[in-house]
Amino acid sequence: MDKEYLAQRMKELRSHFPILNRKIRKQPLVYFDNAASSQKPKEVLDAMTSFYSQSYANVHRGAHTLSMEASEEYEKVRKLVGGFVGCDSDAVVFTSGTTHSLNQVAFGLAHLLDEGDVIVLSEMEHHANIVPWQIVAQMKKAKIRYIPLKEYDLDYEAARDLIDEKVKIVSVCHVSNVLGTVNDIDKIATLARKVGAIMVVDGAQSVGHIELNLYEMDVDLFSFSAHKLCGPTGVGILCGKKNILDLMAPLMYGGDMIEEVHFEKSKFAPVPQRFEAGTLNIAGIIGFGAALNFMRDFWPDDLVYIERSLCAHMCEKLKEVKELTVLGHKEATGRANVFTFSIEHMHAHDIALLLDAKGIAVRSGHHCAMPLGLRLGCGNTARASLSFYNTFEEIDYFVKCLKEIIEKYRK
Ligand SMILES: Cc1ncc(COP(=O)(O)O)c(C=O)c1O
Repeated sequence: MDKEYLAQRMKELRSHFPILNRKIRKQPLVYFDNAASSQKPKEVLDAMTSFYSQSYANVHRGAHTLSMEASEEYEKVRKLVGGFVGCDSDAVVFTSGTTHSLNQVAFGLAHLLDEGDVIVLSEMEHHANIVPWQIVAQMKKAKIRYIPLKEYDLDYEAARDLIDEKVKIVSVCHVSNVLGTVNDIDKIATLARKVGAIMVVDGAQSVGHIELNLYEMDVDLFSFSAHKLCGPTGVGILCGKKNILDLMAPLMYGGDMIEEVHFEKSKFAPVPQRFEAGTLNIAGIIGFGAALNFMRDFWPDDLVYIERSLCAHMCEKLKEVKELTVLGHKEATGRANVFTFSIEHMHAHDIALLLDAKGIAVRSGHHCAMPLGLRLGCGNTARASLSFYNTFEEIDYFVKCLKEIIEKYRK
């Protein structure tokens, strides 16, 4: 891509995000906490305000105009989501986030597990893809095996040995929220397929950052959160293959998920309504539609190219800071824009606070992946994660600040 064109596109994209004009401690905000949650373009804010001020009503309930309009907009978003990730819209379920989606999957598939059956996860999973499985495994007397790491990748050879006939479900992340590693889902799915296991993917860190098409990936169930790709909080997606969704028991029961209710028993609605009990975050879902529409104007070519360019620049600049230990690949190949790091003799929270004083937002802590931290022997770490609205100049400023902090504070 031509440099001038790239710069102009990046500037244009950035101008849609009002919060990026904010100052933090008298410095321009540098928002490097995108893996935790992304910022919202004004299109999302406007869509939600307009919905609440002009068209608000509950969905699937009334025959009146507002309810019909709201239901139509809501269902349009389902189609948009299907188009964005490559999946039939009647296999797109609205949830409250990835955590909700993965709980729905774990508890919804529990009835397929018998004593001694095995669930395979990996050592680089977020707590959301560990804890629900632990509870289900306890309930069903099933076992959990973890695909180990081979440095910063999954150990695919070990996975081949782990995924045997006893395995009923395999659930791994597409992109690690700590290491930034992009996992080879096809490789794992092929192993799962061989033994007839259900393949589940946590896509919280991949959708909107790397190109993917679920029609082309041999994945049964896939989950992600709207708030990590420019949408509002409280909206998530569970999608995938309709026949596997059909196998799942609902996690929640009540209104809107039924076809008939009698005093003695009830008949559930078909998928996806079956998994959408009660009133969901309607305005959030409408806002998410606006986020997807906004991203679609730049997707995939511009956004993916920008993210790849930022990633390459970050990798190069981080090499200048010798005192830094970066978890994950040192080059842009095979990694996404999540850079977790530590500095010897400095606590991660101190690093985050010192960066905050310079206007830079990074996360510090265990990143909801405690077992991975323990496995790597590194407790708390700091994490800088980028999005397409970040700039090369922000990366240069971040690295300059890191050098200053190390010079001034490291013992
Ligand atoms: C890989 C991964 N999985 C799951 C989650 C949970 O997402 P949410 O908090 O939106 O439910 C996150 C959030 O950081 C994540 O990074």
